[in-house]
Amino acid sequence: MVSLAVLMSLVACAALASGAAGVRVELTRVHSSPFVRDAVRRDMHRNAARWLAASSDTVSAPVNKGPASLGEYLMTLAIGTPPLSYPAIADTGSDLIWTQCAPCGDDQCFQQATPLYNPANSTTFSYLPCSSQLSICEAASLPACVCPGYNYTYGTGWTSGVQGSETFTFGSSPADETSVSDIVFGCSNASSSDFNGSSGLVGLGRGSLSLVSQLGAGTFSYCLTALQDSNSTNTLLLGSSASLNDTGVGTTPFVASPDMAPFNTFYYLNLTGISLGTKALSIPVDVFTLAANGTGGLIIDSGTTITSLVDAAYQQIRAAVLSMVKLPTTDGSDATGLDLCFALPSSTSAPPAMPSMTLHFDGADMVLPAGSYMTQDSNLWCLALQNQTYGMPSILGNYQQQNMHILYDLGQETMSFAPADCSTF
Ligand SMILES: *[C@@H]1O[C@H](CO)[C@@H](O)[C@H](O)[C@H]1NC(C)=O
Ligand SMILES: *[C@@H]1O[C@H](CO)[C@@H](O)[C@H](O)[C@H]1NC(C)=O
Ligand SMILES: *[C@@H]1O[C@H](CO)[C@@H](O)[C@H](O)[C@H]1NC(C)=O
Ligand SMILES: *[C@@H]1O[C@H](CO)[C@@H](O)[C@H](O)[C@H]1NC(C)=O
Ligand SMILES: *[C@@H]1O[C@H](CO)[C@@H](O)[C@H](O)[C@H]1NC(C)=O
Ligand SMILES: *[C@@H]1O[C@H](CO)[C@@H](O)[C@H](O)[C@H]1NC(C)=O
Ligand SMILES: *[C@@H]1O[C@H](CO)[C@@H](O)[C@H](O)[C@H]1NC(C)=O
Ligand SMILES: *[C@@H]1O[C@H](CO)[C@@H](O)[C@H](O)[C@H]1NC(C)=O
Ligand SMILES: *[C@@H]1O[C@H](CO)[C@@H](O)[C@H](O)[C@H]1NC(C)=O
Repeated sequence: MVSLAVLMSLVACAALASGAAGVRVELTRVHSSPFVRDAVRRDMHRNAARWLAASSDTVSAPVNKGPASLGEYLMTLAIGTPPLSYPAIADTGSDLIWTQCAPCGDDQCFQQATPLYNPANSTTFSYLPCSSQLSICEAASLPACVCPGYNYTYGTGWTSGVQGSETFTFGSSPADETSVSDIVFGCSNASSSDFNGSSGLVGLGRGSLSLVSQLGAGTFSYCLTALQDSNSTNTLLLGSSASLNDTGVGTTPFVASPDMAPFNTFYYLNLTGISLGTKALSIPVDVFTLAANGTGGLIIDSGTTITSLVDAAYQQIRAAVLSMVKLPTTDGSDATGLDLCFALPSSTSAPPAMPSMTLHFDGADMVLPAGSYMTQDSNLWCLALQNQTYGMPSILGNYQQQNMHILYDLGQETMSFAPADCSTF
């Protein structure tokens, strides 16, 4: 159906031909747990804390170790020749494309549901020389990196291995299968267990290693189904076929990212205020401002579940929700990992109605219905937001992106969004 010419540059970089419609990839929610706790503090974005900590002792790395395997969206793609299909976390907060490679000791790799990719069994694998124009240590500005090895760290977790080049096959059905050769990827032989539930990760960030950059896809779009909606799948579109066809589309410009790792990976947005119902919260105007040294700002990240906001904004929302809800509060932090919880009469009680929350972006309002900022765990009903460590970027996580069609346009440097029922999209 989609015919795709593949351009190969001299540096063994693959790209989508400019006229090609693009790549379709199936996107599935990782089988969900009834407990939000498991989804809190799973941050696949590149670890900014270390960079900030190096220049200031007021910033510390967030303590964000949590049970894995939940709260992520998986894309299915295939690696090698013959193609071996595997699920990977789709992450707009990082760049590296990686999968676990054989040989891999039991204690070094996490368990994965699909067979381990063995480069020796693929006719299109090659080790990527360190002299390549696109080389992991350099492209990702990894500290203490010894090419061709790498150790790539996230807000939560890390993966390490050796750099390679492979043919990847994309497509949500045989009719729109597309193979692209010479994609630079990480062949991981040791990883933390934070990616359990996947067989690797695909970075969709701004950096040169990301799938978006390597394909030369100027646009991409996705629509994330609800956390509770465990089995529905959706489509990630990369390339010119990614477009928003919905009504009620809002468009906001990206804020230019600082020109240094890891901040140059991120998609920054200009959040100018937040309302709950019709009430504009009194949040100081500059709390989401991105400083030139990489401090602050707000990024959109498909690989983080719960949105984290700078404390000055979080406390305003917390106070407004607290004043609006007539139920008794209860400490639900052990069960949910969240800071503000109310006790419902029983686990089958419907929570009270709440107004929508509006995120006022530069040029467009993003309206979050109650189910996109409150969450129910049994008889606990909690605010599904958390505060961010000082200095770190605030993060718009995937729980808050549910049931929204989102388009990243890297040519226009804009993000567009529209409400959608992603389970039927
Ligand atoms: C970064 O810049 C901001 C604003 O100019 C300043 O308040 C902050 O202290 C700086 N942080 C570091 C780590 O240099
Ligand atoms: C790789 O090939 C070897 C030999 O043909 C085979 O025994 C092994 O199962 C294959 N491994 C994978 C992961 O396909
Ligand atoms: C990779 O880096 C992380 C975080 O710095 C560290 O905990 C881990 O041991 C490193 N892994 C390897 C294989 O060096
Ligand atoms: C992973 O591969 C690298 C590069 O080949 C090697 O140096 C390292 O020892 C391997 N690590 C494990 C845990 O097998
Ligand atoms: C990984 O997931 C599997 C299956 O969901 C589970 O049995 C296993 O305990 C998990 N391992 C870790 C380290 O979380
Ligand atoms: C969801 O998928 C899992 C595994 O594929 C299956 O066991 C389960 O029955 C499905 N649930 C629903 C509601 O379809
Ligand atoms: C876009 O909308 C038009 C008119 O509603 C419809 O015919 C078309 O199929 C839609 N395209 C996509 C990709 O959804
Ligand atoms: C953010 O949006 C506000 C309101 O439109 C505008 O005044 C400001 O210049 C924008 N900031 C950036 C960094 O684009
Ligand atoms: C986050 O909020 C909690 C509770 O509201 C507070 O105790 C904590 O100090 C805040 N953390 C930061 C980093 O502001």
